[in-house]
Amino acid sequence: MDENSKQFYDTLVSRSSVRVYQDREIEEEKIALLLETLRLSQSAANRQPWHFILLKKGEERKGFEELLHRETFKKAPLILVACADPDSGWERKYDGERYAVVDVTIAVTDMIAVANSLGLGTCWIASFDPPRLKEVLGIPDNIVPVGIITIGYSDESEEKGETVRKSLKEIIHYDRW
Ligand SMILES: Cc1cc2nc3c(=O)[nH]c(=O)nc-3n(C[C@H](O)[C@H](O)[C@H](O)COP(=O)(O)O)c2cc1C
Repeated sequence: MDENSKQFYDTLVSRSSVRVYQDREIEEEKIALLLETLRLSQSAANRQPWHFILLKKGEERKGFEELLHRETFKKAPLILVACADPDSGWERKYDGERYAVVDVTIAVTDMIAVANSLGLGTCWIASFDPPRLKEVLGIPDNIVPVGIITIGYSDESEEKGETVRKSLKEIIHYDRW
């Protein structure tokens, strides 16, 4: 493996969720790169069925912060609410499966990888009350909030234990299930 590939792989697999943040702003150039990553991500039939709400730390965010289930999330300098628009996304004709949520998930996953390469930590939050979130942020009825992502410089202790993962044997099936 060449040095670039190794660095890319290491960044990707060493990611872990960050739930405690330093009181440090994120540089504007870094934020711009994160947003561009979202914009350039792949999506089914290139429909790009996504919208992202950015919430920087400050007075205007206070109402929203009440929806977060951990106090430490409130310190994140940047919070992104990723939304899918199922009506504008691609739909599989065979079974009607709608792909907007998958597309948004891919875009956010790309962004998280870039955030990590820039030295930033993130946490994906799915534990929120969608009707309340929609009300607080004025998200239209037909839009699905997929995730809240906190972003910032980590202030977690080094001795965080290794996250357990299933073995390959448990998840990979050769030739058929
Ligand atoms: C779709 C999704 C939803 C998650 N929701 C939450 C959440 O609501 N609160 C939280 O503290 N962590 C949440 N997490 C973080 C997971 O708990 C975490 O990714 C998992 O335990 C593996 O740990 P790691 O990210 O450190 O590798 C979520 C992660 C994903 C991918």
